[in-house]
Amino acid sequence: MKRRTFAKLLGLGTGPFGLWQTAGGTQKTESVAGAGPTIPPPLPPTRFPINVLEYEALARGSLPRPNFDYLSTGSEDEVTLRDNLEAFGRIRLLPPVLHGIGHCDLSTTVLGEPVSIPVMLAPVVTQGLFHPEGELASARAAASHGTVFGVSTGSTYTVEDIAAAGKGPLWFQLYFRRDREVTRGLLQRVEQAGFKTVVLTVDRDGRKEQDMRNRFTLPQRMLYRVMQQIGHDLPEKMSNEELYKFANSARDPGLTWEIFDWLRSVTRLPLLAKGIVSPSDARKAVSAGLDGIIVSNHGGRALDGMPATIDALEEIVRTVDGRLKVFMDGGFRRGRDVLKALALGARAVLIGRPYAWGLATAGEAGVHRVLEIFREEVQNALVTCACARISDVHKDLLLRG
Ligand SMILES: Cc1cc2nc3c(=O)[nH]c(=O)nc-3n(C[C@H](O)[C@H](O)[C@H](O)COP(=O)(O)O)c2cc1C
Repeated sequence: MKRRTFAKLLGLGTGPFGLWQTAGGTQKTESVAGAGPTIPPPLPPTRFPINVLEYEALARGSLPRPNFDYLSTGSEDEVTLRDNLEAFGRIRLLPPVLHGIGHCDLSTTVLGEPVSIPVMLAPVVTQGLFHPEGELASARAAASHGTVFGVSTGSTYTVEDIAAAGKGPLWFQLYFRRDREVTRGLLQRVEQAGFKTVVLTVDRDGRKEQDMRNRFTLPQRMLYRVMQQIGHDLPEKMSNEELYKFANSARDPGLTWEIFDWLRSVTRLPLLAKGIVSPSDARKAVSAGLDGIIVSNHGGRALDGMPATIDALEEIVRTVDGRLKVFMDGGFRRGRDVLKALALGARAVLIGRPYAWGLATAGEAGVHRVLEIFREEVQNALVTCACARISDVHKDLLLRG
């Protein structure tokens, strides 16, 4: 058998980051005189996964099972979780040929803030579950890519520590506290720490059955720390039961659209609502004077049965008609998915699980590489589709069912 065919069978040398390549380059097959080519020994996997789903597999191997499930599963039957991904597959691309474009400038602005790529990091709670450096690692990786990190209210580190770790643009995701003074104090700290935007999450948690099966709860010490850094005044000693009861009742479930008037009286930062899937709510967001919305179903973790976000996007964009900025998250695993969302009117998109898988696998380097993969894939998709800049992306590139 020829050496080339052999190497092909073994999957060797499949490009700069071929999965079975050594760090020093492709391995040579030695031939012993008269014995034909020897089979090369198995090579360790490269330290550079070539796509985001490889990070999912690596995270599965490096996290305790309940933590991985908490991160990766969705609510109830996971219809929405699956649909978020499958809906991208229902949209095909029609790249023109012979267009002479060889490079795309991926930079854009979000709410006046320059970013080098239209892919941002969505808020993901208690990242200490996935890596000891948690949000600090994510903040550094986002900053080194010149993009936004959305910091969850439920972070394992304080907003001040996160802001000091990464000098990139930060958005603060708010889970509104029943105690308004705690919310006010938190938003003041956020503003002082230099955050650029406040994102109020308006959807509600779904029933995550795999977490119930695993009897998953946050470790008590981590939960105590999270509650404290939000600004809740906790007694020094609390039983497990007291702490969980407190945490469950700390969020305000009774909010209405008027809450944005109150938020405006507390912060000067731009305001977004995250968790919009219907045009009628998008219209209300316009009436509430919001700066933007994030079309989101919480990555299939809220009420199961909501539409895939890419399916909801176009009608929402039409409804708001440029009166506020529209962002979107849910199901982005490939750069070509980003192109599809931009073509349907998203200003930029956010990723959740993909970067948390990177974080779980390799800390800051993992998050950095996930963003790098998106950068490479978005660049490839846009150049192929004759887009020299983000504003060149248009709907005619899409073929829909
Ligand atoms: C483990 C996990 C924790 C999350 N925590 C938050 C959170 O604290 N606040 C929030 O608004 N959204 C949260 N989300 C939702 C994400 O911001 C985002 O909407 C979702 O992950 C996007 O879908 P994707 O994971 O398919 O990219 C979380 C998502 C995951 C996977």
